[in-house]
Amino acid sequence: MTHLTIPRPDDWHLHLRDGAMLEGIAPESARHFARAIIMPNLVPPVVTGAQAAAYRERIRAVTGDSFTPLMTLYLTEETDPADVVAAHRDGIITSVKLYPAGATTNSASGVTNFDRVRPVLEAMAEAGIPLCCHGEVTDHDIDIFDREAVFIDRVLDPIRRATPGLRVVMEHITTADAVAYVQSQTENLGATITTHHLVINRNHILVGGIKPHYYCLPVAKRESHRLALVQAATSGDARFFLGTDSAPHTDDAKENACGCAGCFTATNTMSILAHVFEAEGALDKLEGFASRNGPAFYHLPVNDATITLEKTDSPVTYSAKIETSAGPITVFDPGFPLHWRVV
Ligand code: NCD
Ligand code: ZN
Repeated sequence: MTHLTIPRPDDWHLHLRDGAMLEGIAPESARHFARAIIMPNLVPPVVTGAQAAAYRERIRAVTGDSFTPLMTLYLTEETDPADVVAAHRDGIITSVKLYPAGATTNSASGVTNFDRVRPVLEAMAEAGIPLCCHGEVTDHDIDIFDREAVFIDRVLDPIRRATPGLRVVMEHITTADAVAYVQSQTENLGATITTHHLVINRNHILVGGIKPHYYCLPVAKRESHRLALVQAATSGDARFFLGTDSAPHTDDAKENACGCAGCFTATNTMSILAHVFEAEGALDKLEGFASRNGPAFYHLPVNDATITLEKTDSPVTYSAKIETSAGPITVFDPGFPLHWRVV
């Protein structure tokens, strides 16, 4: 196969930031993606419907109409269920984001006591509003490589049992445990998989010198987990779909004694995915993963427009960095030549 035409893909987990960074990087997503679920972890976070509406306008001012930002609210212990339901009813938000407090970048206002958000979760179940979960516990005694698996047992499964109608997306899954949990459930659960977790394992971060541009959260795990993710993404199982978690930080914030977590993959994601799916003999499954399974979960139409990927003899090159007025941002390097380009 040398050409692949699929409905225009969507990104079901994306960080666009704000201000100069937003201006510099939003076009990288809008070039290939029609819609994206926009993460609310700004400083300060997007916690009310009014803030989400204002942020949506700032994004649209950069991308124009060809790109649709699907907004999320950042769940806190003070979140008002009525505000969430009204923002959803008015078409301002698509989902609500749960960050365990302290789990990742700008998550300090996240949830510590999950009982305190029960009324919001119940209202969301009632109104059909999905919950996007950053699935890691933050307990100091839990090893960072185990935090996702422990989250499933201690937080996610109890929440889902207590609120059976709640539709949940386990975001940026990184373990075979998460794949198995999703596969074991019959309804109301989906999972996003990032581009970079299909490509790197923890050796890429740590062997031969520390590679800050491969550091993200949840941190990449051992190779057997990466293989489970590739298997899930390329299987055709509609519960798994693309959420790049493209999360830009300027180079000075990444290449730092306390470097920020996040890989920036918006620019070259489609080329990388085509490579990964082709290597598995599963190019025919890319359409489901990138263009169909996400809309099905979110009860949204598949995009009418299409994009075409073309196989090239000479490697496709992307800029190594995106220059923004906030500073340079390094584009994720998959570590292998790319031979699929978006026409
Ligand atoms: C994200 C960020 O930088 O906002 N970082 C990351 O490593 N993925 C936060 C997140 O999604 O965890
Ligand atoms: Zn993220």
